[in-house]
Amino acid sequence: MTATLVDRIGLLVRNADDDGLPDELPGAAVVIEDGRIAWIGRAAGAPDADARIDADGRCVVPGFVDSHTHLVFAGDRSAEFEARMAGRPYTAGGIRTTVAATRAASDEALLARATGLVAEARRGGTTTIEIKSGYGLTVEDEARALRLAATLTPETTLLGAHVVPPEHAHDPEGYVDLVVGPMLTACAPHARWIDVFCDRGAFTVDQAERILVAGRDAGLGLRLHAAQLAPSPAVRLAVELGAASVDHCTHLEQADVDALAGGTTVATLLPGAEFSTRSPYPDARRLLDAGGTVALASDCNPGSSFTTSMSFCIALAVREMGMTPREALHAATAGGAAALRRDDVGVLRIGARADLLLLDAPSYVHLAYRPGVPLVTVL
Ligand code: NIG
Ligand code: FE
Repeated sequence: MTATLVDRIGLLVRNADDDGLPDELPGAAVVIEDGRIAWIGRAAGAPDADARIDADGRCVVPGFVDSHTHLVFAGDRSAEFEARMAGRPYTAGGIRTTVAATRAASDEALLARATGLVAEARRGGTTTIEIKSGYGLTVEDEARALRLAATLTPETTLLGAHVVPPEHAHDPEGYVDLVVGPMLTACAPHARWIDVFCDRGAFTVDQAERILVAGRDAGLGLRLHAAQLAPSPAVRLAVELGAASVDHCTHLEQADVDALAGGTTVATLLPGAEFSTRSPYPDARRLLDAGGTVALASDCNPGSSFTTSMSFCIALAVREMGMTPREALHAATAGGAAALRRDDVGVLRIGARADLLLLDAPSYVHLAYRPGVPLVTVL
């Protein structure tokens, strides 16, 4: 087994302080063995290793955990983006454009696109990624999307309830029957999670509850898209069901904030969507001050947020959502890990996965201070 020493780290950010070392460790070193962290501490006391990487005083942080993406799709919706920038509103209906293109695409084309986006995300520092289905909306097309996604990540999510597809437009309940019946049966073997888009123009709170309970009974973990377009009791439903994450949370009422603060459900904020739909940003400060756990994710999808860049999301969270740079980095790493119920990523401690980002900067503050600049190297 080869041991690699990452030496002369100017500042190591760990998201941990329960092992006798501070959360932010200046003058640090890390030893990596077999993809895991084998040693961590002050550079002066570092053990010998087979190979050495000289960080030369730069900052090292945990790899980004992007807990919310929709990467299995075909087609292009740049015209929709252009129209929005000219004043048109975002609606859930645009999803159907991508559904038509995705259904028509070959497995090879879908996998090539998704693989390229995962590689792009990795170059930007994303070392753990979740991928949802949701642009197939038939039993076969959703199962295919999840089969392909599962070749790229273990964090796969059935989002058969993204919108009601055109062929069920006059029978939405019939579509929910399909989702909780044959679709769930076909997709559960390829999915770790189930999700529902519960919002204006998509699914109701009652439909979301039925789908999530069926998913839970099939052994899947729960996630929910809620309160992106309007306030909704769906946020409290997610907390009551013990969902791992409720995502978007753009329009929260005080009762939602209280429920999130008192529960175990992570509030996953997706500022790329507000950027790309020219919408008001969620109030992260209010959630954090109340004691909620916040994650940041890209929501990478062709409609509402076509970016894989977690650094961009961090910059938006700091500039627009009241988060400090440290809180934003935490949300993009440990927050995402909490949203995926993972304790081996998003944190740098002995035994954790050795997902380390070397920043071309002395401090993580530069992730927000230098927006749009590629500062990240994945070690
Ligand atoms: O998370 N909100 C629902 N789903 C995606 C948007 C999908 C689309 O517009 O294609 C989202 O923003
Ligand atoms: Fe989404």
